[in-house]
Amino acid sequence: MGGPLLNTYNHLPLTIHSAKGLYLYDDAGNAYLDMQSGYGVNALGHNHDAVMQALKTQSQKHLHISNAFLSAPTEALANQLITHSEFSKVFFANSGTEANEAALKLAKKRGRQISDSKTNVIALNKGFHGRTAGGMALTGKPQYWDVFKPNLPGVYHVDINDSEAFKSKMNDDVCAIFVEVIQGEGGIRPLTREFALTINDMATRHNALIIVDEVQTGLMRTGELFAYQHTPLTPNIITLAKALGGGIPLGAMLVDASLRDVFEPGDHGTTFGGNPLACAMGEAVIQTIVKPSFKSHVNTVSTLLFDHLHALKAQFPDLIDSVRGQGMMIGVVFHDDVQWIKKDALKHGVIVNVTASRVLRLLPPLTLDTPSAKHFINVLKTILERRQKKP
Ligand SMILES: Cc1ncc(COP(=O)(O)O)c(C=O)c1O
Repeated sequence: MGGPLLNTYNHLPLTIHSAKGLYLYDDAGNAYLDMQSGYGVNALGHNHDAVMQALKTQSQKHLHISNAFLSAPTEALANQLITHSEFSKVFFANSGTEANEAALKLAKKRGRQISDSKTNVIALNKGFHGRTAGGMALTGKPQYWDVFKPNLPGVYHVDINDSEAFKSKMNDDVCAIFVEVIQGEGGIRPLTREFALTINDMATRHNALIIVDEVQTGLMRTGELFAYQHTPLTPNIITLAKALGGGIPLGAMLVDASLRDVFEPGDHGTTFGGNPLACAMGEAVIQTIVKPSFKSHVNTVSTLLFDHLHALKAQFPDLIDSVRGQGMMIGVVFHDDVQWIKKDALKHGVIVNVTASRVLRLLPPLTLDTPSAKHFINVLKTILERRQKKP
């Protein structure tokens, strides 16, 4: 392979020069509507004014100072997250997988405080939790860890929404259950209410922690600040990343009051986690998304997208199998592999993402407006019409 970068990604044939709002621009000045938003990172679109202002202001004070010091933006963001949630303490990391590593370590430490054997974890098949050793082991897709075996021991996977399989794996040696409320990478697969209730029940019975990975679903992506709020789930820990830093790497683990003293100095740490610049930008993100008008905007545009996508499903039943998801986390499930759609959409100036091979995964900026949403639907319709005509 040519080029200086290791061969870890299938790049789109596109070099981005700049970005603003809902659009990316290439070297030639062509505009692309971004329906992927950097896998959910650019939730406020690109270079949002409030985020850019926070970046400017903080960069004139200091960038990195290390966790040997308290930093005002870091504490302010932690306080905001606590104020707007039912959690009690925050640990900052740099990414989703690191937030999950923190959660895994905390769960194991707390498990061992109860019994030496309470270190097992249950996660879900097709779930995705990151690429570091712990995140990878939790991930329920063997293709991500097969070549790196042996995996972390004590991690067991069951199918999403299979309450019986889940119950059969639960016992007092389980320290934590890791779930996504809607599996993102796994193909926009939502947890059922019944399964959520079973998780609550089993976690209580066996004194295990419920850890909800909100790295992709969190921060208003699904129309609530956190996706678990649509469900009966009672998490002890949630993990966040992606949208949190407004485009700068930032992850977080939020823990409930019962866990506030599990970690002590030295148990866990990170050089960059809670970086003041990232946290200042995170504050701007949270201040923006908690406004009631922001939430109603997300839900209005989401309804429009779902209505039109259901109409497309009715129009193209041979191509589209179903439409699922919530808020601005939407999966259009095709009958067959749909990788081709990325290049077709690009020709129409639209960036889309495909996951689980058959699922067109829409993660637009939450600031997507009605005209742009309608434009996207028209482009998709044109692409599907052409596709259907092909022999
Ligand atoms: C649900 C979920 N958890 C964890 C991760 C890993 O996050 P990161 O790539 O920031 O390590 C992702 C990334 O896509 C994710 O979707």
